[in-house]
Amino acid sequence: MKLIAFGMRKDEVGFAEEWAQANQIDVEITEDLLTIDTINQAKGFDGIIALQTIPYDDALFSEMQKMGIKVLSVRNVGVDNIDLVAAKKHNIMVTNVPAYSPNAIAEFSVTQLMQLLRKTPEFNLKLKANDYRWAPNISRELRSLTVGVIGTGRIGRVAMDIYKGFGAKVIAYDLHPKPELKEAGLYADSLDDLFEQADVITLHAPATKENEHMLNRDTFAKMKQNVLIVNTARGTLINTEDLIDALKSGQVGGAALDTYEFENPIFNHDLSHVDIEDPLFNELLGMTNVILTPHIAFYTETAVKNMVEIAFNSAQQFLTTGAVETEVK
Ligand code: COI
Repeated sequence: MKLIAFGMRKDEVGFAEEWAQANQIDVEITEDLLTIDTINQAKGFDGIIALQTIPYDDALFSEMQKMGIKVLSVRNVGVDNIDLVAAKKHNIMVTNVPAYSPNAIAEFSVTQLMQLLRKTPEFNLKLKANDYRWAPNISRELRSLTVGVIGTGRIGRVAMDIYKGFGAKVIAYDLHPKPELKEAGLYADSLDDLFEQADVITLHAPATKENEHMLNRDTFAKMKQNVLIVNTARGTLINTEDLIDALKSGQVGGAALDTYEFENPIFNHDLSHVDIEDPLFNELLGMTNVILTPHIAFYTETAVKNMVEIAFNSAQQFLTTGAVETEVK
């Protein structure tokens, strides 16, 4: 069995090498992302391990099939960038890592909300200007707020527990409610009901065609004035232009965005010597009530180790047994 891992960062290589050693399997490692221009590096391998937010499309799966690749194991959870119909058509098994560390993402989302709430960006700016006054940047406290959690999968549920620990009132929405949360009375009656009640809205849903731009001009209008938005899920859940308008009007009081609708050319790239030609992103960067981070909620030692090991295990399991529980259906 021979595996090739694309898009490998330095912080992942050690875990991959340890895995290869422990399992006595040939593993090739490249920093290159998996694209139609780099796929030829996979010739002679049985399985691909990859992590990227750019698309895996039909052309890529077609090449994989021609090369005899049998499995694509992605090191992350989200599969919105994978053409699963094409994967099936070309007979490529796709696996993901459903739970590498829900806590990593949940903790980060709460951290960012706390920064918004306590107005850290504004105080940082004042500090730089030698202005050490408190007013007017007074905060609200979490225990006096209602937090609306959209998406009650593993990450959303950890976030709910953390918020409860702060004494906040937590309400939730999910297309597929979990019986135990329903029984505990944690779901709002509807998404609109959550929009009406929540002082904070935190997104923990996967990206699908159906929920693209679920936060938009119309839904912002249903929310409380000054609502805070946290997005550590997927950029496409929010219509960015509408969010900027809502931030300007005060309808939205602040946003912490770890994912951004058009993030692919920006996040995880060194653009220190380049002008970013994305007016929406530049506008968000310039807003004092917006905290932008480059899709780092997942980025902890625990998560990275699990992402690498579980992805490799999945490929190995599929190649040896013909079945694997992390199959993306
Ligand atoms: C995911 O696991 O889907 C993430 O969002 C993490 C990112 C590195 C792609």
